[in-house]
Amino acid sequence: MKRMNRCILYIITSTVILIQSTEAQIKTIGQKVDSVLILMTLDEKIGQLNQYSDDLIYTGPVTIDSDKADQIKQGRVGSLLNCMGTERIRNWQKIAMKSRLKIPLLFGQDVIHGYKTTFPIPLGESCSWDLDAMELSARISATEAAAAGINWTFAPMVDICRDPRWGRVMEGAGEDTYLGSKIAFARVKGFQGDKLGEINSVMACAKHFAGYGAAIGGRDYNSVDMSERQLLETYLPPFKATVDAHVATFMTSFNDLNGVPSTANKFLLRDVLKGKWKFDGFIVSDWASVSEMINHGNVKDEYEAALKAIAAGCDMDMESRSYKKNLAKLVSERKVSVSLIDDAVRRILLKKFELGLFDDPYKFCNAEREQKELNNPNNSISARDVAKRSIVLLKNDKQLLPLSKGTKTIAFIGPLVKPKMQNKGFWDVEVPGNDSAYVVSQWEGLVKKVGKTTNLIYAKGCDIEGERKDGFAEAVNVAKQADVVILSIGERRDMSGEAKSRSDIRIPGVQEELLKELLSTGKPVVVLINAGRPLVFDYTAKHASAILYTWWLGSEAGNAISDVLFGDYNPSAKLTMTFPLSVGQVPIYYNHFNTGRPANNDSDRQNKSIYTDLSIYPKYEFGYGLSYTSFQYSQLQLNKKKINPNEQIEVSATITNTGMYDGEEIVQLYLRDIVGSIVRPVIELKDFRKVMLKAGESKTITFSIDAEKLSFINQQLEWVAEPGEFDVMIGASSRDIRLKEKFELVE
Ligand code: BGC
Repeated sequence: MKRMNRCILYIITSTVILIQSTEAQIKTIGQKVDSVLILMTLDEKIGQLNQYSDDLIYTGPVTIDSDKADQIKQGRVGSLLNCMGTERIRNWQKIAMKSRLKIPLLFGQDVIHGYKTTFPIPLGESCSWDLDAMELSARISATEAAAAGINWTFAPMVDICRDPRWGRVMEGAGEDTYLGSKIAFARVKGFQGDKLGEINSVMACAKHFAGYGAAIGGRDYNSVDMSERQLLETYLPPFKATVDAHVATFMTSFNDLNGVPSTANKFLLRDVLKGKWKFDGFIVSDWASVSEMINHGNVKDEYEAALKAIAAGCDMDMESRSYKKNLAKLVSERKVSVSLIDDAVRRILLKKFELGLFDDPYKFCNAEREQKELNNPNNSISARDVAKRSIVLLKNDKQLLPLSKGTKTIAFIGPLVKPKMQNKGFWDVEVPGNDSAYVVSQWEGLVKKVGKTTNLIYAKGCDIEGERKDGFAEAVNVAKQADVVILSIGERRDMSGEAKSRSDIRIPGVQEELLKELLSTGKPVVVLINAGRPLVFDYTAKHASAILYTWWLGSEAGNAISDVLFGDYNPSAKLTMTFPLSVGQVPIYYNHFNTGRPANNDSDRQNKSIYTDLSIYPKYEFGYGLSYTSFQYSQLQLNKKKINPNEQIEVSATITNTGMYDGEEIVQLYLRDIVGSIVRPVIELKDFRKVMLKAGESKTITFSIDAEKLSFINQQLEWVAEPGEFDVMIGASSRDIRLKEKFELVE
């Protein structure tokens, strides 16, 4: 107690703050943190570094502890995940308030694409290229989650991925580093709001650090082997963007990176993240990734695992219990210093203070507010808006779309027409008490959209998977009665996601065969493809009359799809991942190097870097997406043809809506550094604008290019812009370049 008198004591007893020196003396949040830290026993400190799953749901291999509540009471747990709802969270927090120091718990949850209101899966949403929309969807998700007691989301996932076999592509923003970084920044802003501590902001978590998206062969949890140069240039910038956005936490990844598991990767965690980037938040492991280092073959047992992970900078152990079991021993055996533990604890306490949990541990537990926020009608309006912005029009023969609302008979066919929950995607949250009625099915959306004069008929046709074709005859019969057929096919929502890597990414089952049958009726067929990844669907791409790639659109899927089908919204989304022609092309990405023997086109095949049995092109390239209108690009102007590294170059172009509908175009700026000390990609996205143009309207847009946009990681692992010539290209996709010029960077 004597020692306590000397320090500033800032501890809560129930809701009363016991302050032995005045508030005024506690100048900084850091001092508040230290005032708590100084009171903590080693056991209590280690307690803060543990995170357990509640038993409501499990998002990893289950460990049941019958004494979880006791451990919390003894101050041996810093955070829980997988518990939701103000009542349940209040109950856990009450238990924490019975511990000696009454340090509040953090409550984490995978709020990846919505809490109660489900937004499109992040990969789908990224195709909107609409940073405001993505920030808004994160904001709404945070507001709902915070109202339900949660103060920490395990999002955004900012892993760059070039392999659609990897099931977790659905959680990210696709293959491009520039766009991925912008989206990462926007989503952190959305989750965290203006600042932590506000009633509707939750801590974001940049994950999975790092390289996870490059798992060999796209197989989940697999090893990653890449040069440090590529890591720094391609895979780390989106993480850096989250630090720039003041992200509160990071999560390590399951993979080993060049032989060292990320969870104990000192280079990543201490040197880069906490060192070079000066990240002041805390790092949580992924689910049991500390003890999984035994399986990796990097440590002998949990004792060594705990030692390596804490030494490398992993502050909190999610679910493995290795810290809990071993850190005290490691300290007593002088393998781990108390100051190392203190640093981790300090980082966690800091966030608890910033969130305001020391002032009010029940801050996020207001049941009335929970009801209000979870039933805010504006959230579904936003979800519908974001969903329609995420739908990509891939094909539209003879301008079949948009459909006329006066169409007499529409056949809506397929295994994904009527299910509701399928629209929610892999990471929807099972909110207690929330029923599936909240999802607008595709059928319901269409029923609401068409007028009384339209006859809407339905057949399921087949299942998503399996070989059964006994529904084909009925489907064909229904199609024959219609003026137009809409066919909704694709993946089940649990076919893409964590541990859902697939070697065969064609549309499953007999769904494409069903399409073939329907086309044999001679009716025009619009295909909706529901999926969590780029699928391979060559037959559909060749033969369907129109294709909308709808991803998994969330709660408002049915309404959003109908808005697009009938032209109440003119599709504007563009792909953020390359769609391969066949799985044999994977990994495939737009910003590849040229090689010494590039093929210039498909007839240029002699001794070239090609697959002899495949086109050199993907099915759909990065940046591709159609509209119901058309856009013309003209008048490319550069204000200079030569710049030095301190100057900027202004590049402008005029975009004209030459079609019949108002619409938005995502205008893309690409560069090519023609000669580099490290060979440079054939094309690289460096900026974009989403422009709204009324039919017939023109707008001039201007991009500015500075040395940062010209930089890359050189052999010395430094960002440099090397003097020389650059191509500047403005286009409607990475292949559809409409305007091109050259400029030079001089010393
Ligand atoms: C996933 C993380 C997730 C965690 C907690 C892990 O299996 O890889 O992304 O946040 O579980 O649910």
